[in-house]
Amino acid sequence: MLSNSRCFIRIVLIALVSTVAWIVLTASAIDLRDQKPTVQSNRADGLAAWQKVYTVLTSPRCINCHTATNYPQQGDDRHRHFANVIRGPEGWGVPGLNCMSCHQERNADSTGVPGGANWHLAPLSMQWQDTNDRPFSSAAVCRAVTDRAKNHGLDGPGLLKHHTEEPLVLWAWNPGRRPDGSARSLPPLTHAEFVAATGTWVGAGMPCPPGK
Ligand code: HEC
Ligand code: HEC
Repeated sequence: MLSNSRCFIRIVLIALVSTVAWIVLTASAIDLRDQKPTVQSNRADGLAAWQKVYTVLTSPRCINCHTATNYPQQGDDRHRHFANVIRGPEGWGVPGLNCMSCHQERNADSTGVPGGANWHLAPLSMQWQDTNDRPFSSAAVCRAVTDRAKNHGLDGPGLLKHHTEEPLVLWAWNPGRRPDGSARSLPPLTHAEFVAATGTWVGAGMPCPPGK
């Protein structure tokens, strides 16, 4: 009698455990099936958004300060900065020829000197072109901006904030006039489109295209 009821309890327990196991397994299988497509479409949206971000980063108003050389560049043809201006130890130029002796907080349209708060060159770790002035591939720029060892520790929200409010970024959409009086050209997206694309890319986990 005693051993019979123990046996019965054991059978009930085994049945219970296998039912629970079955429920858990099928539920997680359904979960996986449900989640896969959304993860993939997020990644696709993220990659498409990154491609837009990339066209801005490698446009002249941005990449002229993100050089691989010891000097900034000027103009849409990205030629070497005139007067032999060089980056100096921290990107602010050298004593006697530092950036802010010419570049003020605002554009000086009468002289054609562009301006913005803390005008200086991006560090070499944030270069987006090679030493022959060829912009890096989309994959390489993506790796550079997502490498926190190279970008002063910016994570996704940090990058989004930088693109939203950094004065040197905002300057690119208000770049002023050149010494000959002509207006400097703008990046290929509006600032709002650029921020929205960055947001989509960050929201998708900052995917980078494969390849070099
Ligand atoms: C006048 C020079 C200048 C211009 C123009 C400029 N930047 Fe930068 N950028 C810098 C400097 C300097 C830093 C480094 C800031 C710091 O100390 O962290 C930087 C850092 C960055 C970073 C973070 C580092 C990284 O590589 O991930 C991003 C992103 C960035 N810039 C985007 C832009 C974009 C987008 C534009 C154009 C819309 C732009 N920058 C235009 C000078 C410039
Ligand atoms: C002797 C004055 C002077 C100094 C010093 C100077 N600049 Fe300039 N910079 C100018 C003038 C003038 C222009 C406008 C040239 C033009 O548009 O043809 C200019 C243009 C630029 C541009 C081009 C903007 C664009 O997208 O076309 C960048 C970037 C720049 N300077 C960065 C720097 C940095 C970084 C430093 C310090 C390392 C620096 N400059 C030092 C005078 C100076």
